[in-house]
Amino acid sequence: MLGVLTSRHPELPPAVSVRDLSKHYRVHKKDPGLWGSVRSFVRRQTHEVKAVDGVSFRIERGELVGFLGPNGAGKTTTLKVLSGLLHPTSGEVSVLGFRPWRRQRAFQRQFSLVMGQKNQLWWDLPAMDSFLLNREIYEVPKAQFDESLGELTEALELEPLLKVQVRKLSLGERMKCELTAALLHRPAVLFLDEPTIGLDVVMQKKIREFILEYNRKRGATILLTSHYMEDVVALCERVILIDHGKVVYDGKLEEIVRRHVDRKTLAITFLEPVSREALEGIGEVLEFESQKATVCVPRAEASGRAARLLNEFPVADLNIEEPPVDDVIRHIFTEGKA
Ligand SMILES: Nc1ncnc2c1ncn2[C@@H]1O[C@H](COP(=O)(O)OP(=O)(O)O)[C@@H](O)[C@H]1O
Ligand SMILES: [Mg+2]
Repeated sequence: MLGVLTSRHPELPPAVSVRDLSKHYRVHKKDPGLWGSVRSFVRRQTHEVKAVDGVSFRIERGELVGFLGPNGAGKTTTLKVLSGLLHPTSGEVSVLGFRPWRRQRAFQRQFSLVMGQKNQLWWDLPAMDSFLLNREIYEVPKAQFDESLGELTEALELEPLLKVQVRKLSLGERMKCELTAALLHRPAVLFLDEPTIGLDVVMQKKIREFILEYNRKRGATILLTSHYMEDVVALCERVILIDHGKVVYDGKLEEIVRRHVDRKTLAITFLEPVSREALEGIGEVLEFESQKATVCVPRAEASGRAARLLNEFPVADLNIEEPPVDDVIRHIFTEGKA
């Protein structure tokens, strides 16, 4: 069985090692209109898009890392290089000790890429047919295939979906099947590109729990991009933030939130009604009902202000809260000051 290969084995190469990776696309410039097409055909002008521009990071076996950044930051391009779909322009990349673009079978058998926006199953056939095809491609022994399929069917409630033409499945159902197809050979490394995109909240949560379970149970290494911060908060202790093709942060999610947020909010329930004016002496009042309020205070003074609240007001309950991670991450990228 693969998996359970963690950093307890220091002699093994890391799950992912990327050093100074760049991927530049040559794009043809074209002026608008017919003459633009003719002109650019005669004299091809190109310019370069630096999709990934000197990225380095290392991921140990068994880690579950969030890969975050605004649209066009270079996330998908990086994952495609790591999966061997693209050749890097420069830099060194190793996944489980393999150069991905050589596409060796031993490598192919140990990783999977799942893209939320791209269908990898046979559209006109039931998902089961794609699974069987993958069994052949990855040369999964029958006993292991049956066991994996059984586990996945149970965890993702696939039973009623297996024999339905993929094109007739809902987006969420299809995503479950995509994940199954990607996991039947029990890859030790999993790249997930927006696996929950477009799914409803309930399905998002199911997929998220499943990803965590796969990481825990198989010791699999997972690199995940998602626009949903709920996914990231629930799954990833560590995040790599990328912007304009460059890594702008690599570390604990908690730490970047702490670093970028200079305020905390106090959520208070009172035993009896209080006056808003009095409360404004504590901090900026964000929400106010006579017996409930949230007040925003400078981070460094949060505990002092909380103590004053307890002294001066009839407090029934008090919580010191961090602002939502969504807001923080959006703030980092819009301010460009990670
Ligand atoms: N095949 C391609 N040809 C030219 N430019 C591309 C191609 N794929 C992506 N890009 C450009 O590279 C940049 C990074 O894209 P991408 O890796 O898809 O970002 P992300 O996944 O973070 O949204 C963008 O500017 C995008 O327009
Ligand atoms: Mg993308």
